[in-house]
Amino acid sequence: MNSTSTIGFNINEIREQFPALRRQVYGKNLIYFDNGATSQKPQNVLDAIQQYYTKDNANIHRGVHFLSQQATNEYEVARKTIQQYINAPKSEEVIFTKGTTDSINLIAFSFGQRLKPGDEILISEMEHHSNIVRWQMLCERQGCTLKVLPINEKGELEMDLLDTYLTEKTKLVSITHISNTLGTINPVKTITQKAHAVGAKVVIDGAQSIQHKKVDVQALDCDFYVFSGHKVFGPTGIGVLYGKEAILNDMPPYQGGGDMIAKVTFERTTYNELPFKFEAGTPHIAGGICLGKAFEFLNKLDMDKVLAYEAELCAYAEDMLSTFEGVRIIGTAKKKTSVVSFVVDGIHPFDMGTLLDKQGIAVRTGHHCTQPLMDKFGIPGTIRASFAFYNTKEEIDIFIRAVEKSIQMLS
Ligand code: ALA
Repeated sequence: MNSTSTIGFNINEIREQFPALRRQVYGKNLIYFDNGATSQKPQNVLDAIQQYYTKDNANIHRGVHFLSQQATNEYEVARKTIQQYINAPKSEEVIFTKGTTDSINLIAFSFGQRLKPGDEILISEMEHHSNIVRWQMLCERQGCTLKVLPINEKGELEMDLLDTYLTEKTKLVSITHISNTLGTINPVKTITQKAHAVGAKVVIDGAQSIQHKKVDVQALDCDFYVFSGHKVFGPTGIGVLYGKEAILNDMPPYQGGGDMIAKVTFERTTYNELPFKFEAGTPHIAGGICLGKAFEFLNKLDMDKVLAYEAELCAYAEDMLSTFEGVRIIGTAKKKTSVVSFVVDGIHPFDMGTLLDKQGIAVRTGHHCTQPLMDKFGIPGTIRASFAFYNTKEEIDIFIRAVEKSIQMLS
């Protein structure tokens, strides 16, 4: 597949690194536009999974033997790779979790214990269920109030209202960096500054951002940054919670068990240092190591160019979709990337998704785990094409023809 673009790196060479992109479905070349749900994996990650389970499998932090020490070393090297990638001051501030949802659950369970009746948590109307439901559960447990910052019709946060939503009662603000449904890039640095001004801590849900743009947690000054490994070209079942050291040290452990302890007696247990205090039990060792490999892959790319390229793909797809009668793009923020969500008059997203699938094109249809956002737009769901840097304009051309054909068939 030849691709012309302004990206400044060779997309064909990049695509070569992703074997899944070479497969066919229903006899057609796969066009994978479901990167918001999960990304495909580069060869170095696939090789590392094979290598770990074939030759290097051992438990970590526990053994004197060669394999255990080697696995421990690789796991901790991965942690350092991720630390450097997000510019965290210390690798101890990088906690391995199961993913974004698990990271948010950890914060809600542990940090949440300090919240009191009357305290407020602020989220936004565009949040994924994982950044809504756990806070509702916490509010119920602690007697806190969940407040929701509205969005405008383009799918941008109503930033003018932020000052009225932030009060001295606000203890936590948890906001997505990039919307999984709309592609909106939120001004998380400004939000963080304003939240800090009222004494609130800030969680940034980076599940849809770290694979699309450079993230510097020190520049953002966020208190927590969370993301999933599988959306950033690594394995499923592994993710990251970055937290500022002082805050993490002040938080009680999440789960109890092996590895998170310093000393156990039947009378009393003392806890391990960071990051181990929050990593009870045998972790997803291969996952951690291979997530490190995914970041090694990303380290070879210029993420500013990736961001520009993916925004270009979005604009290209939206321009062409907008020429079809009855098509409405959901999410038209000035700053957006990687996601094109749309509805077509009289056509259910599921039916469109099914027809696209039969033409070899993988998209997601439905509410995208953002039901309140669908309610806001008054729709049951959307058809979502979500891009990664390995996608091309040629794929979008095929997608557009497939959408046109599907509209003809379903109208
Ligand atoms: N959160 C993932 C998505 O947006 C699963 O598809």
